[in-house]
Amino acid sequence: MILRDMTEADLDAVLKIEREVHAHPWTLGNFSDALRSQYQCKVLELDKQILGFALLMLAVDEAELLDIAVAARFQHQGWGRTLLDEMMALARSRNMRRMVLEVRASNAAAIALYRKAGFANIGLRRAYYPVLNGREDAILMGREL
Ligand SMILES: CC(C)(COP(=O)(O)OP(=O)(O)OC[C@H]1O[C@@H](n2cnc3c(N)ncnc32)[C@H](O)[C@@H]1OP(=O)(O)O)[C@@H](O)C(=O)NCCC(=O)NCCS
Repeated sequence: MILRDMTEADLDAVLKIEREVHAHPWTLGNFSDALRSQYQCKVLELDKQILGFALLMLAVDEAELLDIAVAARFQHQGWGRTLLDEMMALARSRNMRRMVLEVRASNAAAIALYRKAGFANIGLRRAYYPVLNGREDAILMGREL
């Protein structure tokens, strides 16, 4: 298993995963912008196959996890936790003191992953995300690194 920088050449595979696992996926433009910015964009690869990816924004001493995803057929095998642990290690190596993220209130899998990894609720943005028939809350989570 290797964690490496995401490149433009990965975007087909990354978008395929993003569209498979997210009801409201990021667009190609979103990922291209992320690659051009100072974000840390990483893919998790096994036998030259991309299993998942994560994007992290570093700001002063706080890292924000912008996206994390594991391809459906590789879920429930510990890869999400591996990816999250790697992003926390990366943030620590860049002297970040805290990691924060936002997650849809209905996203039980991600919330369980974050709790298990030591994240706690630190806030709530009401009616933040669009859903098919309206909007849903965003839960803000964070942990010290
Ligand atoms: C969230 C996500 C990355 C987890 O990836 P994963 O590889 O399946 O996660 P892991 O196998 O490492 O599981 C780690 C822990 O997460 C929790 N978890 C993962 N999937 C779960 C599910 N469907 N229901 C409840 N808990 C779940 C469990 O606590 C699990 O620990 P356990 O296996 O010891 O019970 C994956 O479900 C995903 O890509 N979801 C779609 C994208 C997304 O919602 N990203 C988050 C945006 S904020």
